[in-house]
Amino acid sequence: MGFFSDLKILYHLALRPVRGKDHADRMENFYSGQAEAYDDFRKRLLHGREELYRKIEVPEGGVWVDLGGGTGSNLEFIADRVPRLGRAYVVDLASSLLKVASNRFEQAGWEHVSAVEADATTWQPADGPVDVVTFSYSLTMIPDWFAAIENAARMLKPGGQIGVVDFYVSRKHASDLKQHGWFTRTFWPTWFASDNVFPSPDHLPFLQRHFQTQWLNESRAKVPYIPWIRMPYYQFLGRKVS
Ligand SMILES: C[S@@+](CC[C@H](N)C(=O)[O-])C[C@H]1O[C@@H](n2cnc3c(N)ncnc32)[C@H](O)[C@@H]1O
Repeated sequence: MGFFSDLKILYHLALRPVRGKDHADRMENFYSGQAEAYDDFRKRLLHGREELYRKIEVPEGGVWVDLGGGTGSNLEFIADRVPRLGRAYVVDLASSLLKVASNRFEQAGWEHVSAVEADATTWQPADGPVDVVTFSYSLTMIPDWFAAIENAARMLKPGGQIGVVDFYVSRKHASDLKQHGWFTRTFWPTWFASDNVFPSPDHLPFLQRHFQTQWLNESRAKVPYIPWIRMPYYQFLGRKVS
C-alpha cells in the first residue's frame, strides 16, 4: 500500500459525499470503496488501539465482543491471546469491512471468532454474558452512542471489562478531565462531521458514570499528511460493578 492507496482513502475521507437512507446504509456507502485499503491508513490515523487492547485482561475461555469492530484488525494486537478465548465477536454494520474481517479470521484459523452484521446499540450474544467489550473509534460513529454503551453494560458479566479508545473534545468546563481550548472544541467536531464522525465531550463522563475506571489516558496524536495539528483522543478501561 502506498501513496495512491492513500489518495483513494483521502478522497473518501475528504471529498466523496456519504449517501444512504439510514445509518447502516451510510456506513456501508462510506466504507465500501475503502475496505481493502482501510487497515493500512487507519494504522496511522487511529492511535492508542494496541496499547489499550493489550492492557485488557483476557480470561481463559472468556468471551470478547468488539462493537463497531470493522475489519477485525484489532484482534491482531492480541493475536497471541485469541486462541485462548472461548469466543470472540466482531460486530459491525458495514458488510464490506466484515468481509475483510471474515477472511482475516479464516486465514488465522480462528474458527471461534465471528464477524457479525448487526447494530451495536441492540445486538446481544446468544450465548449469554461476556467478559470483555471494546469500542475502538466506533462510538464517535454511532449516533445513539449512549444506547451502545448501555447495551455493552447489559452484555457484560459483573466484573467484566470495557475498553474504549476514540477521538473526543472536552467540555467547556472540563472539571477533572483535560481542558481543551475553544479552537479544539470547535475545529474537530466540524472537521469530522462530514464523515459522520462526532467527537463528543460527553462520552468519557458517561463511561465514568457507568463503569469503575481502571485506567484513563487523554492524549493527542498526529494526523497523516497534516503534520502541524494533533487530534485529541482518549483511552478508557473500566469494570462493570455488580
Ligand atoms: C472508524 S471505524 C473503526 C473500526 C475499527 N473498530 C477500528 O478500530 O479500525 C467505525 C466503525 O463503526 C461502525 N459502526 C458505526 N455505527 C455502528 C453501529 N450502530 N453498529 C455497529 N457498528 C457501527 C462502522 O461501520 C465502522 O466500521
